[in-house]
Amino acid sequence: MNIELSFTKYKESDLLNYQKRVSDAHIHLNNRTGEGSDYLGWLDYTCPEDELTLIKNLTKEIHQKAEVLIVIGIGGSYLGAKSVIEALGKKYKKDKVEVVFAGNSVSTSDLKSLIEYVEDKSVYVNVISKSGRTLESSIAFRLISEHIKEKYASEYSDRIIVTTDPVDGALNKLKELYGFRKLSIPKNIGGRYSVITPVGLLPISVAGYDIDCFINGVKKAREEFSDEEILKNSAYKYAVLRNLYYEKEGKTVEALTLYEPRYAGIGQWYQQLFGESEGKDRKGIYPSFLINTTDLHSLGQYIQDGERQLFETVLWVKSIEEEVIIKADSENLDGLNYLEGKSLLEINETAMLATALSHFDGGSESIFIILDNMNEEEIGRLYFFFMKACAIGGYLLGVNPFNQPGVEGYKNNMFELLGKPGTDGSKTLKRLAEMRAK
Ligand code: PA5
Repeated sequence: MNIELSFTKYKESDLLNYQKRVSDAHIHLNNRTGEGSDYLGWLDYTCPEDELTLIKNLTKEIHQKAEVLIVIGIGGSYLGAKSVIEALGKKYKKDKVEVVFAGNSVSTSDLKSLIEYVEDKSVYVNVISKSGRTLESSIAFRLISEHIKEKYASEYSDRIIVTTDPVDGALNKLKELYGFRKLSIPKNIGGRYSVITPVGLLPISVAGYDIDCFINGVKKAREEFSDEEILKNSAYKYAVLRNLYYEKEGKTVEALTLYEPRYAGIGQWYQQLFGESEGKDRKGIYPSFLINTTDLHSLGQYIQDGERQLFETVLWVKSIEEEVIIKADSENLDGLNYLEGKSLLEINETAMLATALSHFDGGSESIFIILDNMNEEEIGRLYFFFMKACAIGGYLLGVNPFNQPGVEGYKNNMFELLGKPGTDGSKTLKRLAEMRAK
């Protein structure tokens, strides 16, 4: 994986000023002596053989018996799988088993239309929650379970697979009661680093992708991004560049710029990874993403000409499965014959280069991440690259990249306002009334 600096003002020599800080962070990460070191399981995680076999057997069973797999989960418990499936899939492909996602909002219409959609279809459910107490996914599981129970009666428990903590939480209790099949999320891996565990592996496998290749990509990346030296480690290079923009230039927004609509999920996964990892103690770069060329016709104006608080990270994938070539037209009424013989990929690449140049001239610089292909192995490699960059970047920023204390704020307020047993909502209710009376 290449990190190119052509469209930044920085040279490799500028990055070397960070070597001491990076070496310190690298040592903390590897020796598990930094903040949040209880959550470093992803650094050397390999899926245990028995779990991998169970995932493959479940995949076969679901392929034989189902048309739809409903994956219930939110945040790190769904974004990884969803983004990989979308990035690898062709937009209009009819998958043998369709993987759909639920429990990632509290939307009435989403839930109702999903239940209607699967009414006449054969369904399995994979409910994913490490804590087993997340409100959105728990509510969706309760409501979808009612439907599955009614539909499958005694077969109900065969249709549900839980992915959760090895021992704790409500999903383990439900599993004991109903005898659901279960996959484990190691205690020392947080949600946003969990796509490489059964959280990602079962849905990706059911969607028809080769999880051995995905795991192999992660394994390769582990080796490739292990060097302490910035210039020999693309993940560290990327982390340092982001930090340079933030610390030296006050750039507070990064736009991950993607040139395929089916990569939008990668943008959402990246937003969660960096947003939850870095955004704390009043620090951190705000992660956003763009889908070009679509967004060039909406946000492009702002990026070219608006406030200069932003830098871009362009993810460019060099090849595509099947090329579409423009042919000559005898009439040429649209005047496009000058494009004869060019592929859409070439035109997309030209748009990408033209944009980077014009944004650079407008004072908005771009870091380039270059991938040869988009396939199971490459996306495994890419995701480990981002996780490693995020971890080291968090340490450079001086935050714990593995917790998410800010997320608890809204959750606690909500539990109190909804009257969850064991909470006292009186203060929160009073504060809310005062705010609304203003
Ligand atoms: O990254 C994280 O830890 C979070 O985004 C969680 O994945 C998310 O809150 C869902 O948590 P759980 O898996 O416990 O339901």
